[in-house]
Amino acid sequence: MVDILVSEKMRETLYKKLEESRKKALLGGGPEAIEKQHQKGKMTARERIEYLLDNGTFTEIDMFVTHRSSEFGLDKKKAFGDGVVTGFGKIDGRKVFIVSQDFTFLGGSLGEMHAAKIVKTMQMALSVGAPIVFLNDSGGARIQEGVDSLKGYGDIFYMNVQASGVIPQIAAIMGPTAGGAVYSPALMDFILMTRKTSFMFITGPKVVKAAIGEEVDEFSLGGAEVHETKSGVASLVGEDDKEVLDLIKKLLGYLPSNNLQDPPYVETGDPPEREDRELDSIIPDDPLKPYDVKEVIERVFDRGSFLEIQPKWAPNAVVGFARLGGHVVGVVANQPAYLAGSLDIDSSDKIARFVRTLDAFNIPIVTLVDVPGFLPGTVQEHGGIIRHGAKILYAYSEATVPKLTVIMRKAYGGAYIAMSSRHLGADYVVAWPTAEIAVMGPEGAVEILYRKQIAQIKDPEKRKKYIDEIVKEYREKLATPYMAASRGYVDDIIFPRETRRKLYRALEVLRSKREVRVRTPPKKHGNMPV
Ligand code: HXC
Repeated sequence: MVDILVSEKMRETLYKKLEESRKKALLGGGPEAIEKQHQKGKMTARERIEYLLDNGTFTEIDMFVTHRSSEFGLDKKKAFGDGVVTGFGKIDGRKVFIVSQDFTFLGGSLGEMHAAKIVKTMQMALSVGAPIVFLNDSGGARIQEGVDSLKGYGDIFYMNVQASGVIPQIAAIMGPTAGGAVYSPALMDFILMTRKTSFMFITGPKVVKAAIGEEVDEFSLGGAEVHETKSGVASLVGEDDKEVLDLIKKLLGYLPSNNLQDPPYVETGDPPEREDRELDSIIPDDPLKPYDVKEVIERVFDRGSFLEIQPKWAPNAVVGFARLGGHVVGVVANQPAYLAGSLDIDSSDKIARFVRTLDAFNIPIVTLVDVPGFLPGTVQEHGGIIRHGAKILYAYSEATVPKLTVIMRKAYGGAYIAMSSRHLGADYVVAWPTAEIAVMGPEGAVEILYRKQIAQIKDPEKRKKYIDEIVKEYREKLATPYMAASRGYVDDIIFPRETRRKLYRALEVLRSKREVRVRTPPKKHGNMPV
């Protein structure tokens, strides 16, 4: 009888201890630090998880992990969780793994055990084939833990690469991300940033000043605006924590859980065979006049389904996810409204990267072409347009998902080949009657072909008349879709209004496409230009 009483009391104590430990863990770095976090306009690591995941679905792992360092007073600074909350839950009913750094404990800095928790979560996500979302808010490597912190980052980078192309990896930058810490997000598929509370840089303002004397603040160096317009590091930017978390949910809706699955189908209610007569007049009569390709995208794909990625960087190319008859597709388009839609270094990187992302996750690619060529000039040549442009050729040639191409207007030279031509393995290529497929544009071509004849005409008016005539002849003979169609390089010439229907039908057929590349001789991987 006495024994039973003792064990009951013991159990009560044990349960109480667990309750208290949990309470403690939930407080991270403590109420004061939480208050500071809120004052900065940021949610805490746990509030973010709660907002992101379906109600009540979060299961935490490693709540009671602590660091085991005693250097520089760390023995007196310990907290359950060690500055990061990890686990799994659901978003829109689909399972997802989550890593949320807790800035309230030691600035969310990453030490040995903090890293071990992250690696364990990544391993689990990879083994079950579910996406992983990282909510970054951290001062970087935990200085007191020295090389153990660096080892932790190394382990994470290694896992990022193992998971690449297998499960979607999404990083949201919701506070500082400094030093080598930026490379984990950089190895993932998408990076989202909060506009006013996040920054990312390899070296912070103080080191920049000491090293090269340049004075710059955190946000001008690596804030969201910099990364969404100049560096191209940010895929998407949200105004605050909630907007970024909403964007993550939206983005996941276009992605499969892993590379063996298809992305989720959603009933959009937009009839797949719908015709849009406005498309027939979208190309201006003057071939030099621009138009907004986003209007074409809005009209062709399911209404309101387009989610643009990197909208403010390299705007001469437009990339993003959309739905066609409810099925996810990736859209790649030239944007005639910016740099006449030409391909430059940044847009080449943007397109190549997105094409590879789509291919990795079984998402068919629809390419809308209106491209006058690669952007000429010393800035581009010296910057390496040769190796950057080559990435587009590489990415499209490598991709085995269904590839559908619509040539709307210009498709000149190397850019014609690069933009998902039949020659790089496109499965279905159609052209609008306004398509001009040729080695180069009429104006450039006649300058080369008829230079001597043009130079002989001294009277400017007569010269202009002569040029106009030969340009017209060139356009009629060579810069049309009919020559390409006569060779079968273009499968069909269609009215613009039919585009949606034609693409939908082709997509239906191509959904069962399976292309297994037999590699002879066997190789580890190709050597993609960078
Ligand atoms: C240990 C850190 C820390 C770090 C912040 N803290 N960063 N502790 N290691 N890396 C601690 C602070 O001491 C403080 O502890 C608490 O976190 C909050 O930090 P504050 O400075 O008070 O906050 P704030 O003013 O908001 O500034 C945040 C910050 C700043 C901008 C992140 O802390 C900062 O500049 N930290 C260092 C950033 C950095 O250079 N990291 C190393 C990068 S190199 P108390 O106890 O006072 O609350 C790197 C290498 C990775 O990461 C290599 C991988 C290859």
